[in-house]
Amino acid sequence: MEEKLMKKLGSGSLDFESFFSEKALGMKASEVRELLKLVESSDIISLAGGLPAPETFPVDVIKQIAVDVLENHADKALQYGTTKGFTPLRLALARWMEKRYGIPMSKVEIMIVAGSQQALDLIGRTFVNPGDIIIVEAPTYLAAIQAFKYYDPEMIGIPMDDEGMRVDVLEEKLEELRRKGKRVKLVYTVSTFQNPAGVTMSLERRKKLIELASEYNFLVVEDGPYSELRYSGEQVPPIKHFDGEGRVIYLGTFSKILAPGMRLGWVAAHPHLIRKMEIAKQSIDLCTNTLGQAIAWKYVEEGHLDRHIPEIVNFYKPRRDAMLAALEEYMPEGVRWTKPEGGMFVWATLPEGIDTKLLMEKAVSRGVAYVPGEAFFVHRDVKNTMRLNFTYVPEDKIREGVKRLAEVLDAEIKALKA
Ligand SMILES: Cc1ncc(COP(=O)(O)O)c(C=O)c1O
Repeated sequence: MEEKLMKKLGSGSLDFESFFSEKALGMKASEVRELLKLVESSDIISLAGGLPAPETFPVDVIKQIAVDVLENHADKALQYGTTKGFTPLRLALARWMEKRYGIPMSKVEIMIVAGSQQALDLIGRTFVNPGDIIIVEAPTYLAAIQAFKYYDPEMIGIPMDDEGMRVDVLEEKLEELRRKGKRVKLVYTVSTFQNPAGVTMSLERRKKLIELASEYNFLVVEDGPYSELRYSGEQVPPIKHFDGEGRVIYLGTFSKILAPGMRLGWVAAHPHLIRKMEIAKQSIDLCTNTLGQAIAWKYVEEGHLDRHIPEIVNFYKPRRDAMLAALEEYMPEGVRWTKPEGGMFVWATLPEGIDTKLLMEKAVSRGVAYVPGEAFFVHRDVKNTMRLNFTYVPEDKIREGVKRLAEVLDAEIKALKA
């Protein structure tokens, strides 16, 4: 609809392009996102999205808290706030992190942001000079690549297996770079139920990563939006839990445990790092939405968060189970996939030679969509992978979607062999 309107308006007589900065000219909309827009408005079963299910939004609680906040705290909740965030919320989150993850924490170590996506941009602003080396997982969160890229770093992907980032490969890479006189500044990891791969970094690797951070003098950015969505297995403490030196910048968010529309997240880090990020944030937004922060404060403080997390988990678990069962039942030989203990995604790897981006059109015409894996790699050099979401559509649709996808893949694998 909007696209049509824009076309109708045309480009006019002005050369708009000539006004854009070089950075803006370098920004490209992803082709996949364009294709996915079509999917949203049709009968296609989309395993592509990354959205939480709206059924999990605690609407009544938010309604009740919003009334309370407006009746009793409107003077603060409707006013500008400090850049660092609404102090009661920062305090509540510090306590929550301590209770939940065993990380001793005070409010000076917490800054509120407009979702962890804003924190990724702030990290780019605060730490990255052009050419600085950032290590990420391969694959990694697509919008982290985009956020960091704006600051012109050199990004290096480290492969993963079922226990998360291959920290042994990381060590080799660090050594190789050191020999060349190069220093790694940041290592970015989605340590638990990774987006896109669904895997979780093992305890041993978490500890090893912290040792390496100390030995090679880099900071770790630990992005944890999915860590509360565990459907099976044992809880693993965040890397931040083992951080004796203040090297870990932990990113939390309300997006998957309350609602993404609140646009609220937090950074938990050493106050020295928080202070600089706070200054970087001042010119971006002055402060994060205060009304939302006041609502989130009550949501944490009154125990709703702790009560709500198990409800979300109970809602998603059958969907995760349905996807794993359907993959097992329908996928043809030669297709491998991860078996996440939580989060929102399964990552599938197909035989070499299949390009999932090219295959997307066939899948969409068969009535199913996924996200081709290529864009999750910094060099876009892996073509035979895909991300499947299991939180947004109900079990019967997941099953049908996987079945359709399996048919498309079966035909493709047979064609490849012929
Ligand atoms: C790994 C990761 N980091 C950050 C974000 C951004 O989340 P937020 O809504 O908190 O900005 C997402 C969203 O899907 C994500 O998957």
